[in-house]
Amino acid sequence: MTRSRELLNQMTIDEKVAQLLQLATLFYKGSSHKGQITGPMADMGINEEIVNNSGSVLGGAGAQEVMNIQKTYMENNRLGIPLLMMADIIHGFKTIFPVPLAIGSSWDMELAEKSAEIAAIEAAVSGVHVTFAPMVDLVRDPRWGRVMESTGEDPFLNSDFARAFVRGFQGNDLTNDTNRVAACVKHFAAYGAAEAGRDYNTVDMSERILRESYLPAYKAALDEGCEMVMTAFNTVDSIPASGNKKLMRDLLREEWGFDGVIISDWGAIKEIIAHGVAEDEREAAKKALEAGVDIEMMTPCYVHNLKELVEDGTISESLLDESVLRILQLKEKLGLFENPYRGANVELEEKLILSKEHRQVARELAAKSCVLMKNENVLPLQKEQKIALIGPFAHNGDILGPWSWQGSTEIAVKVDEGFKMKMDPANLFVAQGCDIETVTEQQLQEAVKAAEQAEVIVLALGEHSRMSGEAKCRADIRLPEVQLQLIAEIKKLGKPIAVVLFNGRPLDLHGVIDETDAVLEAWYPGTEGGAAIADLLFGDANPSGKITISFPYSVGQVPVYYNAFNTGRPKDEPVTEYVSKYLDIPNSPLLPFGFGLSYTSFAYGELTLSDDKLTDDTSISVSIDVTNTGDVAGDEIVQLYVRDVVGEVVRPLKELKSYERITLNPGETKTVTFTITEEMLRYHHADLQFASDAGKFIVFVGPNSVETKEKEFVLVK
Ligand code: NOJ
Repeated sequence: MTRSRELLNQMTIDEKVAQLLQLATLFYKGSSHKGQITGPMADMGINEEIVNNSGSVLGGAGAQEVMNIQKTYMENNRLGIPLLMMADIIHGFKTIFPVPLAIGSSWDMELAEKSAEIAAIEAAVSGVHVTFAPMVDLVRDPRWGRVMESTGEDPFLNSDFARAFVRGFQGNDLTNDTNRVAACVKHFAAYGAAEAGRDYNTVDMSERILRESYLPAYKAALDEGCEMVMTAFNTVDSIPASGNKKLMRDLLREEWGFDGVIISDWGAIKEIIAHGVAEDEREAAKKALEAGVDIEMMTPCYVHNLKELVEDGTISESLLDESVLRILQLKEKLGLFENPYRGANVELEEKLILSKEHRQVARELAAKSCVLMKNENVLPLQKEQKIALIGPFAHNGDILGPWSWQGSTEIAVKVDEGFKMKMDPANLFVAQGCDIETVTEQQLQEAVKAAEQAEVIVLALGEHSRMSGEAKCRADIRLPEVQLQLIAEIKKLGKPIAVVLFNGRPLDLHGVIDETDAVLEAWYPGTEGGAAIADLLFGDANPSGKITISFPYSVGQVPVYYNAFNTGRPKDEPVTEYVSKYLDIPNSPLLPFGFGLSYTSFAYGELTLSDDKLTDDTSISVSIDVTNTGDVAGDEIVQLYVRDVVGEVVRPLKELKSYERITLNPGETKTVTFTITEEMLRYHHADLQFASDAGKFIVFVGPNSVETKEKEFVLVK
C-alpha cells in the first residue's frame, strides 16, 4: 500500500480533512441526482473546493452516472484521488431478494451468500464500490421498523448469516474481482436494542449481555474480512456510539484489531450534540475522531473543525493521518488508483442485471424464506380449483421491502401473476377487498362477489413497505383494522381461507391465524415474490422456512425471545400466584423461534449421545433419526439447542448451537448427527472471561425451539 502513503505525504491538511467527508450524489457535478437520501439534510456549509476533495459518495449507482461523477471529480481533484462510491445494496440491487428477516427464515447460508454475490455483481457493474451491508443487529422488538433488515434474534444464526453475506459481497479478491463490492457491517453497536422499539432510542445493557448476545455477529462479519464498519445512532452505555471511544477505539480497533474504515451513520456525528454529549460541532468532531470514526456521513463537523483542532494542538495530525490512510488504502485495495471506474460497465449492466439466472435464485430464495404457520387441509391449492384471490396484495408490486431503492415494483411478479402461471385464469377471481388501511363499501362487495364464485379463498394481506424500515416503528403490530374486517367479512361465507402475509415484522396474528385455515408468511419476498408464492401455494415447492424471530402473543409481551433466562420464579404448572407471569396473556409467544410447517410431516426418533461426559479435548456426537411421514418430499431444518444448567451467571433456557437443513422423500429417514465440543459451551463470565464451566448441560434437538427431545451430559474439567 505504498501508493496510499505517497499520496498521504503529498496532501495538504485541507485535502486530508475533506477526504473524511462523505456526501450524497447531489453535491457532485456529473450527477443527475438520483441517489436515495435518508435523514434530514442539514445546512452543510460546503463549498466547491471541499466537494472536490471529499473522499466518498453516498447513493450513486448506474454505470454512466457514476463514471460521469468520477470523471468530473477527478478533473478537479489536485492529486487525482478517485472517489469511493458507496450505496445501500441490502438485499439485492435490481434483482431484489427477500428482506433479510425473510432470508433468515431460510436458514440457508449458501443461498444467502449467493444472493449477496448477485447483489454485488449487479451493483459493481453499476459503479458501486462499497455496500452498506450486512446489517447484523440482533433484534427482539417487532415494534422497531428495522427488524426486517436483520436476520433475527439469535446471535449464533445471525453470525452465520453475517459471514455468508460478507463472503457473497466481497468474494476472495476485491482487488482483481471487480464484480464484488466491499462490505460495511452495521450498525455498531446494538442498534437493534432501542428501548421500546422506537428508532434511534436509548440502548442500555450490561457489557456482559452486549458481548454475549449483540456483538458476536459484528465480530463474525469482521472475522470474515469485512472491510468497513458503520456506527449506530444510539448510545451504548450512555455514550453515543459515534463518539464512543470504548466501543470503537478500545474494543473494535485495539481488542479486535480492526484496521479497516469506520464510517458514521448519516448525520450521527453531529447528533452527538443532540444527545447532549458535545456542546458544538467542534466537540462532536473531536469525540468522533478520537473514538476512531474515519468517515463522517453527511454532516460537516469534521470538515469545519478538524483543521483547527489539529492546528491548535487539540488533536494530533497523526490521528487525522491514520483515518486518511485507511480510506486511501481501501481505495487502493479496490484497485481504484489503477481504474477509478472499477467494475462500472454499461454493456455488462445490460447483460447481467435482472438476468434469468439472478431471477431464478431470487425465486428459489423467496420460496425458501416463506414460513407456513398454519395449514388445516387447505394448502396446497389444486390447479383445477376455482380460486378467489382477494386483498390489497392480490395485485401489488409493493412486495420488495423498504430497502430496495433500485428495485422496480413494476416488474415485480405480483401474486395474481404468479397464480396465472399455474392455473386457468378463467377460474381465478381477483378482488382488492380493501386498501392497506382504508376500505370502501364497493371494495367489500366486490370481494364478497369474488369469494362467492370460488371453492377456496386466498387473502393476500399485510403492511405496505412504508410501515417498515428506518423511523417506521409501530406500537400496534396487528394488521391494519380494515384487513381484519375483510377477514371477518369473507369468513361469513364459510369457505376455506388461506392467508398470505406481506410484512416486515412479526405481527400480532390474532384475528388472522385463529380466524382462517392456513397462513403463509411471505414477508417482502422480492422481485420474484408472486412466482415463488404460487410455487408454494400450488405445491410445486414445499414450504420449509422457519421463523428466526418470535411472533409475540401480543405487543404487551415484547420483547419476547426464546433464549431468555429462567428467573427465580418461573411460571409453574399449575400456576401459582407469585410467579413470573401475566394475568391476561401467556408467557410464551404465539409462534416460537425456529417454528415453521411443511406440506409433509416429520417424525423425530430418539436422541442418542455417543457419551454423557465431555472434556476439553473430546466431543460428543448427538444423533437423531428424522423421517418424512407424509406424502410429499420436503426439507426439514433440524435444530440443536443447549442449556447450561448451572452457570456462574444466569444462562439462557436454550441456545441454538447447530442446525441442518435436510431433504427427505416420503417415507425416507435420515440420521442427523451433530457434534458438541467444549468450545460451544463457553460464555462471558461476570469478569467478561469467555470460558466454559464444568457441570451439567442439557442438549435439545427438534423442529423448533419448543418441541424438542432432550438428554443430559456433563462437562468434566
Ligand atoms: C441511515 C441508515 O441507518 C443506514 O443503515 C444507511 O446505510 C445510511 N442511512 C445510508 O443510507
